[in-house]
Amino acid sequence: MSESKAEKPMFVLLFAGFGCFLLSFLGMGLGPWISLSATMEPPKEIADANPYKDENGDKTDIGRGRETYINEGCWHCHSQFVRPVANEEFRYGPVSESWESMYDVPNTFGTRRIGPDLSREAGRRSNDWHYAHLWNPRSTVPRSIMPKYPWMFEQDGETWKPSDKAKDLVAYLQYLGGAKKEEVRKMVWPSRVVTAGAPQVTEAHGRRGKALFEKHCIGCHGDKADGVGLAKDFLAPSAADLTTRYLPREEIFRVLFMGSEGSAMPSFSELTEKDLWALAQYVHEFGKDVRGPALKTADNAAAVDRGRQAYINGGCKTCHGEDGLVPESMESLQPAPKHFRDRLYSADYLKHVFEKGRPGTVMVPATGVKPADYDDLVAYLSSLFDRQKYKAEEDR
Ligand code: HEC
Ligand code: HEC
Ligand code: HEC
Repeated sequence: MSESKAEKPMFVLLFAGFGCFLLSFLGMGLGPWISLSATMEPPKEIADANPYKDENGDKTDIGRGRETYINEGCWHCHSQFVRPVANEEFRYGPVSESWESMYDVPNTFGTRRIGPDLSREAGRRSNDWHYAHLWNPRSTVPRSIMPKYPWMFEQDGETWKPSDKAKDLVAYLQYLGGAKKEEVRKMVWPSRVVTAGAPQVTEAHGRRGKALFEKHCIGCHGDKADGVGLAKDFLAPSAADLTTRYLPREEIFRVLFMGSEGSAMPSFSELTEKDLWALAQYVHEFGKDVRGPALKTADNAAAVDRGRQAYINGGCKTCHGEDGLVPESMESLQPAPKHFRDRLYSADYLKHVFEKGRPGTVMVPATGVKPADYDDLVAYLSSLFDRQKYKAEEDR
């Protein structure tokens, strides 16, 4: 049998070697080059001014923040590039385009993801969240392995406040992907409306709920769920004291799924529905004792009537709505006013809110209500609870 020249081992190696080279050149050089150069120009509606420098060439807060990001080595653990591979879009939003990093010299793409990609971070978390997280990541994410950055904070009496360095860094984080925020919101942020009712309670639910609460929630809400956790000095509004309120499980599910925009309360929509219900069950138990006494005050019809007047005269109606039905125009407040049809509070906590408001929100102290009318107002707010809708919840 005669061998043709091309079948000689030397030629086979030569062709194979050249073929591999050509293939990698096309796949890893030419392909990306073509697809990336198609997105060199930002869309017209997006201003392409350098965000890191002002007109005089001085660094902006975002620019200084970026410098800190590089100096502190945040890029060792965080990438800033949404890759065009399976499912990245579902987690982070649209795939990165060239123009988004046109002023990033040197670039901060990063290669390793010990933590999540940060290129779509804008608006995902509140500033409070970021400060608490930088101070001690375990305050907002109890099992985090990200290092602490306490040197970005200054002591102010008993507490610690973010330094200018931390503020600039957070301005930078809130800038990342800002141009695509709306797109990210549509693709990633929760939009599913939950219609299914709460499932039957089982004992396994309770155990699972406790474990999840310890894993995700105690940094802010505290291990007693009273709102006193590691992060407390940084949060305004403060984390809710979950022992002061009776929340139906559907309502807790809603908050967990959506988060509370304008506060540090994040969305946990990435958890499974089963886990969310387990958490809802666990949190529901904290405020169970509030229900009886609160409904009892609501049974005093005369007090409820007087309370209704105090509610109207006190200006509560503007934001919380007629009979506690929050008007649509107020739903866009961040955070949005609470809807009294889906919750009951303890009388003590309500009086505390009337006096102190909720610092960090537009809910200011109720100066338009006389302390003598507090009891009546408590009765009225409790009467707004939708007993019919949550009847099943009571019978369980
Ligand atoms: C040793 C690796 C490591 C370093 C260094 C690091 N991080 Fe992280 N980071 C993580 C991990 C892991 C998480 C996920 C857990 C968590 O949220 O704390 C995370 C989460 C985050 C998040 C939350 C993202 C989100 O929306 O869930 C932000 C923001 C962040 N890091 C910013 C920074 C900044 C800014 C720096 C530098 C000052 C930094 N990280 C340095 C590992 C790191
Ligand atoms: C980073 C801090 C933080 C973490 C982590 C956090 N929360 Fe919150 N939570 C808050 C803050 C702040 C509020 C108050 C929001 C507001 O006033 O609008 C809140 C509010 C709530 C509320 C709403 C109370 C109401 O009256 O509407 C519920 C329920 C809740 N959190 C449950 C949880 C659960 C369960 C977890 C864990 C899965 C959790 N939170 C994790 C900060 C946090
Ligand atoms: C300018 C709009 C506005 C007005 C007026 C207003 N509220 Fe509020 N209220 C809010 C917002 C926003 C929140 C949500 C704050 C938060 O997330 O902690 C809130 C929350 C509350 C809460 C729940 C606090 C908590 O921890 O869950 C109570 C109770 C309350 N308001 C009572 C009243 C009463 C009573 C009045 C009238 C005296 C009143 N509000 C007037 C906007 C308003």
